[in-house]
Amino acid sequence: MNKRSCPLLALFVSVCLGPAARAQTAAPAPVATPVVIQIDASKIAAPVSPMLYGLMTEEINYSYEGGLYGELVRNRTFQGKEGTPDFWSLVQDADGAGAMALDPSQSLNATLPSSLKLEITAAAPKQRVGIANPGFWGIPVRPDTSYRVSFYAKAAPGFSGTLTVSIESNDGATVQASAQVSGLTAEWQHYTVALTTGKVATSAANQLVIAAQSPGTVWFNVVSLFPPTWNDRPNGNRRDLMQLLVDMKPAFLRFPGGNYLQGHTLATRFDWKKTLGDIAQRPGHRNDAWNYWSTDGLGLLEFLLWCEDMNAQPVLGVFAGFTLRGVPTPPGPELQPFVQEALEEIEYVTGDTNTTWGARRAQDGHPAPFKLTYVEIGNEDFFDRTAGTYDGRFAQFFDAIKAKYPTLKVIATTAVKSRTPDVVDDHFYTRAAQVFQSDASHYDDTDRKGPKIFVGEYATRIGSPTPNMNAALGDAAYLIGMERNADVVIMSAYAPLFTNVNSGAMQWPTDLIGYDALTSYGSPSYYVQKMFSHNRGDVVLAGHAEGIATREWQPPTPRGGQEAPPPKQVPTLFYGATRDTQTGTVYLKLVNAVNTPQTVRVELKGVAAVEPDGLAIVLSSASPTDTNSITEPTKIVPVTTKVTGLGTSFTQTLVPNSVTVLQLQTR
Ligand code: AHR
Repeated sequence: MNKRSCPLLALFVSVCLGPAARAQTAAPAPVATPVVIQIDASKIAAPVSPMLYGLMTEEINYSYEGGLYGELVRNRTFQGKEGTPDFWSLVQDADGAGAMALDPSQSLNATLPSSLKLEITAAAPKQRVGIANPGFWGIPVRPDTSYRVSFYAKAAPGFSGTLTVSIESNDGATVQASAQVSGLTAEWQHYTVALTTGKVATSAANQLVIAAQSPGTVWFNVVSLFPPTWNDRPNGNRRDLMQLLVDMKPAFLRFPGGNYLQGHTLATRFDWKKTLGDIAQRPGHRNDAWNYWSTDGLGLLEFLLWCEDMNAQPVLGVFAGFTLRGVPTPPGPELQPFVQEALEEIEYVTGDTNTTWGARRAQDGHPAPFKLTYVEIGNEDFFDRTAGTYDGRFAQFFDAIKAKYPTLKVIATTAVKSRTPDVVDDHFYTRAAQVFQSDASHYDDTDRKGPKIFVGEYATRIGSPTPNMNAALGDAAYLIGMERNADVVIMSAYAPLFTNVNSGAMQWPTDLIGYDALTSYGSPSYYVQKMFSHNRGDVVLAGHAEGIATREWQPPTPRGGQEAPPPKQVPTLFYGATRDTQTGTVYLKLVNAVNTPQTVRVELKGVAAVEPDGLAIVLSSASPTDTNSITEPTKIVPVTTKVTGLGTSFTQTLVPNSVTVLQLQTR
């Protein structure tokens, strides 16, 4: 389950089951004697960190390119494939004739190596010749919508024609919107036009075409097409995906990775300085961690604006000298340039405009500094086993950051001895819901005097491209355990966040949110995240349960010829209670992990009264294998109903395969 070994697992299971657990070997029948859950509102077990629920992101599964980042043109700068303008095609209508090729002799600038040369040898009205781009698995077109096209172009002497820029259906039968550009010269110029659709049908099978009806030679670069973006930001984000994220009310965004931060080599890490400023000055890079090209159009400032747009704090991952395939940079003078780079990156995020990098941020369009509390040193440095350099690397970063920014909290990606990190980032992925369900007490015995914990990546990986209800039941049980320990587990984030669901787009099956060019949806695990984040509370209340049934589960046999592990008894029901001390609302979270209803008797001590009416927010499905998808995006969504008859003691039946949040108004 965990990338690290989990020697305490046996202990966790016995703690989790406790003396009150009853063993069941098959799927349990409805429990005749209700489970009794006692909550004592006078006993605050822990404060809940306001940062508990956040997001983790990286460029994986076409998360930005062909995903959140609004750009609709694929390969706008003609990079990524040596010698070929990948994803571009030549349009030759009727007797029109021409050729298209990369031309390194006519580069736009020193950053972008080649332009695209279009040589039109024969063209006339209705016999156009041009270039076409299919977008990322289509170009989404909606009625009455304005798209912004921009590109650099220049022409060889002799071309005095007009370029027609259009979004049209792939078969060319329907022109969705078009505009004309004229006046090309022998010098590069930047052209911008709006393409506004009328009452067209919503569709994705479209391409962008730039064509002429007269002979000549034209060069292009940075050919870009943007739909309306979230908050109308230029170079901004796709609206539907932002809406899904904002709806989660995330407290933070951890970026830029993940493996994407590291890359396979120093040349392919996330090199933040190359992601700033005019998109025509960004070289982009091969995202070899996930094997596709990144324009870096969504660069450091865009990550920060994305945080701002969600009212979330950045959790900044800085490159720490360790790539996925290279030799780790040893601590000492060789590492120092990366430490310096991290200090400058922090200055870019937080510095006044009278600092070098704060001034650069202002020049990039954002004079106000961003709030930053957490900086993470690297990613998954427990993989640096052979050289074992992380202790030293972490110390060098930690000392430099604390010296310059004493209030910043520094996160380690694995346990270190050289320094005491403020926070350690734990990652857990599992392919069985029962793993998280049997380990839901993982943090119950964590040393409260040690570093805080950030569960920076976790997921029950059942379902592709997005998790099914069974996975959501695993995640919810684990989250209940994190929330119960929210004094030490101060942050958590599901990973990965996004996947484009088109064939060939996904590198990592089981992702929180899926989308194609036109539509998007949240998985059942997405709704679990949202329910927990919206119903957080600020203190954990002490609780005790009796009568929780268990079911037997056979853990998989580890690879390598080892013996099958013994079966485990896994609880079928999970609970946790928090309270908002301002409003008095108690949030009782309940997970019924099995296919049958379960009845719970809730007894609430330490409050004067409970209002008879409350709310139940329930996520459930008839079968644990049910899921949401691009064609059934809302098959499983939380349903909110009024509940009556509440009091300091009441009974509630939990439907099969369900996650419930009960909102109880207490006095
Ligand atoms: O979330 C996918 C990958 O899992 C991340 O890039 C990495 O940090 C982890 O191994």
